[in-house]
Amino acid sequence: MQRVLIILALAILFLSASCEPDPPPHCDGCPEEFEDRPITGPASATAYSLEVPDYLPSPVVDETNPLTVEGIDLGRRLFYDKIMGRDSAFACADCHQQDKAFTDGRALAVGIDGRQGTRSAMSIVNLAFNPNGFNWDGAFDELWEQAVHPVENMLEMDEDWDDVLIRLRRSDDYPERFRAAFGISRTSDITQELAVKAIAQFEMTIISADSHFDRVVYQNSAFFTEEEQLGADSLFFVEDVPIGTLHPGCGHCHNKPSFGDNRFKNNGLDAVSSLDDFSDKGFGEVSGSRFDNGKFRTPTLRNIALTAPYMHDGRFATLEEVLDHYAAGGHGVENEDPNITGFSLNDREKQALLAFLRSLTDESLTENSQFSSPFE
Ligand code: HEC
Ligand code: HEC
Repeated sequence: MQRVLIILALAILFLSASCEPDPPPHCDGCPEEFEDRPITGPASATAYSLEVPDYLPSPVVDETNPLTVEGIDLGRRLFYDKIMGRDSAFACADCHQQDKAFTDGRALAVGIDGRQGTRSAMSIVNLAFNPNGFNWDGAFDELWEQAVHPVENMLEMDEDWDDVLIRLRRSDDYPERFRAAFGISRTSDITQELAVKAIAQFEMTIISADSHFDRVVYQNSAFFTEEEQLGADSLFFVEDVPIGTLHPGCGHCHNKPSFGDNRFKNNGLDAVSSLDDFSDKGFGEVSGSRFDNGKFRTPTLRNIALTAPYMHDGRFATLEEVLDHYAAGGHGVENEDPNITGFSLNDREKQALLAFLRSLTDESLTENSQFSSPFE
């Protein structure tokens, strides 16, 4: 009898151990019934109010996805959990790494099995202030809609949502977390929509507002070096120059406090002979207008020193190359933005503009434990 009990105890131990792998918490060996079972535990989420410094714009509120402490926590887990990718082998965070302001350091993204994507991974920072759609071409209006696609994209995580949902429902950890965030009562209530809404809640909280620039200009707690000051005042922000004067004028499109107006523009990258010839049509594909071909969303330059290589296809390895591009003044393509004028800088001015761009780096973003992996 005693032996039977020991065997039984061992079997239970074994079974529960197979349902409880150390992070990431999911269960490949758990029985199918787990997909539809009642969930117990707390079910009322705690409202979360996003703290935004007064020098940043008001966040865009998504009425369909109110922020809660539990929702954000769940989203953070899903963002970092390889359970979301095929064979539980790829996470959002593989391409969006905190130490690189949530980019991946590559020109073109590399997904599961080393598959190469067609665009450069974007920085998942200050998305709360973007009203103009997500991705380089603004293809998705809502942040949570965006999160559906990396999971399914063959070149990214290459997974069926149905399989992700099976793993989440059978997990011995996620059902309680979904219940805490969204009040559901059965594991079968875990849906794609709830998963991506939780991820979007987490993404909304990733706010960067504590760069050297912010400390100098808004917090009055630091000073620019002479070089940074030159870069800021006489190169980056200058807008009112007499017509015909050539000037970097980066602030036309990358103005403070967001450092990117999120509008779709052609910043003169490609020398095409007709608007139909862009290899990546960008916003044109989304709007359906030929005149929008080759336009991409003007991204923020906050943390730009951390997010090389640059542009939608990562064509420039360094900020020096970026400046050389703008200085050359585009290619005269008919939908190029009129603020792409070309200019020339002496070496001192060039260094000053670079020093200013580096002042936009926010170390408190890359070190903030609220945004780091919950599994480490
Ligand atoms: C293989 C690398 C890769 C993976 C994995 C990946 N992303 Fe991305 N991410 C990208 C690329 C590339 C873009 C730009 C896509 C485009 O413009 O077509 C992007 C864009 C984004 C954006 C848009 C940001 C903006 O400013 O518009 C968000 C948000 C985002 N990803 C979130 C996620 C989430 C959430 C996941 C996991 C579910 C994820 N990503 C997985 C590479 C990746
Ligand atoms: C006419 C508007 C406009 C002006 C002026 C402008 N930019 Fe841009 N910038 C854009 C757009 C649009 C993009 C995205 C283009 C793409 O990837 O296809 C961009 C992209 C960038 C990027 C790459 C961002 C990333 O995440 O990869 C950097 C760096 C940059 N700009 C710096 C500058 C600097 C420095 C200046 C001034 C010398 C400047 N820009 C002037 C519109 C502009």
